Amino acid sequence: MKTEKKKEWIAILDFGSQYTQLISRRVREAKVYSEIFPYYVELNKLLENPPKGIILSGGPASVYEKQAPRCNEKIFELDLPILGICYGAQLIAQVLGGKVAKTSQAEYGRINIILDNQEDIFYGLPTNTTCWMSHQDLVKDLPLNFKIIAHSENTKAVAMVNKSKKIYGVQFHPEVTHTPLGKKIFKNFLYHICRCNPSWNLESFIRQSLSEIKEKVGDWKVIAGVSGGIDSLVAAVLTHQAIGNQLHCIFINNGLLRKGEAEEVQKIFKENFKIDLNYIDASNRFLDKLRGVSAPEVKRKIIGEEFIRVFEENAERIGKIKYLLQGTLYPDVIESISLKGPSSKIKSHHNVGGLPEEMNLKILEPLKYLFKDEVRKIAKKLKFPQEVIWRQPFPGPGLSIRIIGPVEKEKLDILREADEIIKQEIKKNGLYKKVWQSFGILLPIKTVGVMGDSRTYDFALTLRIVSSSDGMTADWVKIPYKILGEISNRIINEVKGINRVVYDISSKPPATIEWE
Ligand code: XMP
Repeated sequence: MKTEKKKEWIAILDFGSQYTQLISRRVREAKVYSEIFPYYVELNKLLENPPKGIILSGGPASVYEKQAPRCNEKIFELDLPILGICYGAQLIAQVLGGKVAKTSQAEYGRINIILDNQEDIFYGLPTNTTCWMSHQDLVKDLPLNFKIIAHSENTKAVAMVNKSKKIYGVQFHPEVTHTPLGKKIFKNFLYHICRCNPSWNLESFIRQSLSEIKEKVGDWKVIAGVSGGIDSLVAAVLTHQAIGNQLHCIFINNGLLRKGEAEEVQKIFKENFKIDLNYIDASNRFLDKLRGVSAPEVKRKIIGEEFIRVFEENAERIGKIKYLLQGTLYPDVIESISLKGPSSKIKSHHNVGGLPEEMNLKILEPLKYLFKDEVRKIAKKLKFPQEVIWRQPFPGPGLSIRIIGPVEKEKLDILREADEIIKQEIKKNGLYKKVWQSFGILLPIKTVGVMGDSRTYDFALTLRIVSSSDGMTADWVKIPYKILGEISNRIINEVKGINRVVYDISSKPPATIEWE
């Protein structure tokens, strides 16, 4: 990519750590552009536009295992600064002739460390500091020309350096907030070692995106699927600024939307953006295709495919449409990159993984290098209304993946009513913006209840309320009992078809946010 944003950038090689995205965010917070690659990325690709430095992430493997992920070892001969984090540091040691072994004193959590100097990546840091460790292996023998620059009570080589080659290894995780001075370590690496300037920002990203879209699209037309979610709206508004009426926005009602959503999205569009929106009610065809389908991945594929077919039909009608605009974000891209990498496929999110292999439209994804909080910042700059900026994420496959088992109209209606009550109560209690998502899942089981003097035999609903910063990890929210009680009471009393509400107290990992 010959973009301005990549003039000065840092490449991050992903060895499967759950924190890899955090590394990328820390670098961007320091105003340096960063991109994540799978560890096996080809050198040519990495050097198409050479980075100013490389960061090797952590990872769950042990470098001495046969199957352990290894990057192209030529990266150590590129004369580029390298920072290895945890597994990354151990890999540096192993590849360059040192020794890594299992330790009898594994360190987890907050550990006090002692810095042996205050130079380079440790410039401006105190001698004693705290960091976050999570390791079973450690560097036993340093490679030639390396020296130790930090240690702890149990670990001799908490950090090491080959100063002349600018290769650094740290056994701890500077990217997590539990390493309070981690940001400073990144800044030192970026500004002093890699000699980057803190120049990347969202304004230049927007400028760049607009000119890229213009150049790519030429005089072709673009069709955009908007959902009312912030991602597709920001993508549409940016693209509209770039190509004006060459953009055709479509809102497809797939029959899997929340209560009142179809009307609400059209209203938001009409009142806030001077862009025509074409509303298409395709609910019957989606529900027909989903009839009797239980498997979550099959649901996703069917919905992904059907979306594309509706777009293609409309593209034909409009004529000269070459691109389909999607609000794909970086975490989706990384998840789909890592399908081939060390971490395994969890779910195919429809705007990336669930697309059919054969399609006539080319995909345009102007936000695919951005994180959610960055998109929210752009939305603020574009003066989006608060209700859009703070709308909770809603999955492309909609309520279909919140109805466990086959999707039926009756169940959709029940879930919609419950979902509306959850939204109202969460908003009423000032929690809507504070949590990442709050929603219900309709379980495929009926249980016995009693209402008045009669026996009921109705569905059970799970309430799921999670906090998260990007959806990659999440915690269940410790909601006050009073609010839980009110939500449960209202649902059981007001929604015909549900007589039991349970609360999901699982975090991600090991659970996921959605149940399917
Ligand atoms: P999971 O369930 O994977 O969800 O922990 C993480 C975040 O992604 C959303 N999600 C989806 N979004 N298509 C989407 O566009 C999908 O198929 C999909 N599945 C999950 C989910 O709502 C959560 O915010």
